[in-house]
Amino acid sequence: MSIDYLALDEELDPEGYLICQYTVKSDLDIETAGKRIAEEESTGTWTHPTTLSDEIFERYGAKVVEAEGDRTRIGYPVIDFSGEIGEIPQILSIIAGNLFGLDSLDGVRLVDIELPSKIVNKYPGPQQGIEGLRGILGRPEKPLVGTIVKPKIGLPPEEFSDYVYEAGKGGLTNSKDDETLVDQDFCPLEERVSYVSEKLDLLEEEGHKMIHAHNISTSVHKILEAGDLALENGARQLMVDVLTVGFSGLQALAEDPSIKVPIHVHRAMHGAITKNPDHGISMPVIAKLVRMAGGDALHTGTYGTGKMHADISEELMSKEALLGEMHGLKRMMPVASGGLHPGLIPELMENSGNDVQIQAGGGVSGHPDGVRAGAKALSQAVDAAVKGIELKEYAKEHLELKKALDKWM
Ligand code: 3PG
Repeated sequence: MSIDYLALDEELDPEGYLICQYTVKSDLDIETAGKRIAEEESTGTWTHPTTLSDEIFERYGAKVVEAEGDRTRIGYPVIDFSGEIGEIPQILSIIAGNLFGLDSLDGVRLVDIELPSKIVNKYPGPQQGIEGLRGILGRPEKPLVGTIVKPKIGLPPEEFSDYVYEAGKGGLTNSKDDETLVDQDFCPLEERVSYVSEKLDLLEEEGHKMIHAHNISTSVHKILEAGDLALENGARQLMVDVLTVGFSGLQALAEDPSIKVPIHVHRAMHGAITKNPDHGISMPVIAKLVRMAGGDALHTGTYGTGKMHADISEELMSKEALLGEMHGLKRMMPVASGGLHPGLIPELMENSGNDVQIQAGGGVSGHPDGVRAGAKALSQAVDAAVKGIELKEYAKEHLELKKALDKWM
C-alpha cells in the first residue's frame, strides 16, 4: 500500500469520521492543497517521516474525499479524537490547527463540520436549551425580547439595576451585562447581581417574569468560583464570552452540577476568526462547538441587519447548528444582537422566525423617552411582526414604537 491522502472515490462512513469542509485560496491545485491539510493534521508533516508505516497511515490518516473548485472535504478518523482527556481543545488542534499557518496556503476557511455521534455523545450539551429558557420565562412561542445594559461600562450597581427594572416594566423578558463588564471596581459582580436580583424579584411580584445574564468571563481556574458568587447573590442566568474565555471555561461551567441556571454565550472577538471570507472559522462551526460545550443561548448574528458584519447564508447555517438535530443534544436559543432597533425587527424575523432572542442595547436606551419607552417600542415591534402587521401601521396606535421609528428610520 502506498501513502496517499487523496481518496476521491471513497464513501466515508459518517459515524467513523469527523468530516470537515474547507475552502482554500492558494496557487496549489485544490487536490494538492487538500492533501497538505490532511497530512499536516493527521499522520504526516512537510516531509515523509521514515517512522510513518502503512499501518499507521491506514488507521489514523485523514482522507481527502472531495476537491473541487476552491472546496475540499476531509475526513479525520474518529480514533484520532479518542481518549478521555483531549476534548474540544484537541478537536480544534486537529481540524483548525497548523493548517491555518501553512505558507503554501494563502487562505483556508473551515466552513462546516459533520460530527459523528461517538464524539458528540461524550458531551452533555445544553442543560436548559431553548425549551428550558422558554419554560423559565413562561413564553412558549414568541421570540424572547431583551436588552444589554448601556452604557457598556460606568453605571454603578444600583443605577445598573434601575435600568433592568425599567426594561422589565417595558415588557422585556431578558437583559444582560455587556461583554466588557465583569467585576470592575465601579460595578463589582457581587453587588451588581444582588441589586439586579432584587429588581427581578420586584418585577416578579408585580407580575412580570424576566431574567438577566451576568457576565462571569474570567480565567478557567476562577470561573466556577465566579459562578457560585453570582448564584449565591441570586443570579438567574450566567454569561460567558466564549472566545476570550475559551470553550473549556464554558464547558467547566455547564458541566458543573451546582450550575442549574441557563448560560448565555457571547461571541466577542469572533470577527477576528469569522469575518474574512477566505480565512478562519465560520460561525456555524463555532456554534456547533458551543452547543457541545453546553451553552444555552448564543449570539449568532442579526440576519443581515444591525451593526455587525454578516453573511446571511452563514447566519442561517448557524441557526440550523443551534436548532437542528445534533445526536440528541438539546436545542439552543439563537441570539440576535448588535445594532438592532425596532425598525429592523420585521426584516430580522423574516429570516429568524420566532425561535430567537432579540436584543437591543442602543435600540432601547437610545429611545427619546428613555429605557422603559425603548423597551416598550422593541416589544411592540416584535408583537407587530408576530402578528404580521406592518410596523408603520402598528405604530399608529403605539406611541413608543412611533417615536422609535421617527428617530431611527
Ligand atoms: C451586544 O452585546 O451584542 C452588544 O453590546 C449590543 O449592543 P447594541 O444593541 O447597542 O449594538
